[in-house]
Amino acid sequence: MTYKNTDTEFSKLDNRNVNYRFDLEKDIPWSRISEPGLHFGPHFCAKVGVDFEGLRQHPEAFALFQWAVGVETSEVFYILEQNLMDFIDDEHAALGPNRSALLLYQEEVKHMALFRRYSDYLRALKPDWAARFDEAFTNYRPQSYARENYPSAAVQHYCFWLPTLIFEEYTVYMFKEFEKEEESMQPVWMAAHGAHAKEEKQHVVTDAAHLRALDITPVEKRACAHAFWSNFDATFNEFLGISTAKAMVRKYYPEAASCVPEGPMSAQPIFSDIVGGNGFKVTLEHAPFVRPQAPAAA
Ligand SMILES: [Fe+2]
Ligand SMILES: [Fe+2]
Repeated sequence: MTYKNTDTEFSKLDNRNVNYRFDLEKDIPWSRISEPGLHFGPHFCAKVGVDFEGLRQHPEAFALFQWAVGVETSEVFYILEQNLMDFIDDEHAALGPNRSALLLYQEEVKHMALFRRYSDYLRALKPDWAARFDEAFTNYRPQSYARENYPSAAVQHYCFWLPTLIFEEYTVYMFKEFEKEEESMQPVWMAAHGAHAKEEKQHVVTDAAHLRALDITPVEKRACAHAFWSNFDATFNEFLGISTAKAMVRKYYPEAASCVPEGPMSAQPIFSDIVGGNGFKVTLEHAPFVRPQAPAAA
């Protein structure tokens, strides 16, 4: 058995009501989709190493960045949600009959439709740029789900649930940060992230229950957490959905390149929020932060 104590870990969750759910048509103000507004405002740009004011001095580069980051965030969410569903499909025998995983699955189907629709709208606005986006995105798009070789099913499941947990905590965090500059944001974009974050809060609880119920030894768990933090930069860059937008500005508007530098995630202000537990407490509970060792000087 990959999981133990499933009765106690899942029974409370499995009985929850679903009044936190949103309706894709009624709760998203689609009629406002052509209204102006930002996808990443100055506050969030600063968190992820983008010089918002500097970029604004280059209006075409600024418009490209705002458009591309809307497409990229949506597409990244879509791919990661697809991966989550593929994992549940593949591992349904080990996961067992568990209502909270089923609810999560159903909700992710809706989230994929939400972000697909938003991205398709943006793509239709700039078909020429959409082709260039796809070309650049091949370097940054998250890997599709693939069953890899793990020493045990418990390790495999831990290595799946932990990145899922940080991604889902990130989506909640992201919306809270967007709310701080709500007045300048695109209204449909805001509503989509708000509705999404509400359901993702429930997914965080589901992820954590799976991590708690995993039949894994403390030594294995520590080794997995260590590996997770060692690969954190690559993992989190995939979630962030911003690398393609930055790369497009550097390529097509080199005069604005200094506003969208490439750099390690661990050097961005968002990293202090993550390891400091601002919005990422559940992740840290299951994988206490271990600073990767710098290679020893020769
Ligand atoms: Fe989602
Ligand atoms: Fe989710």
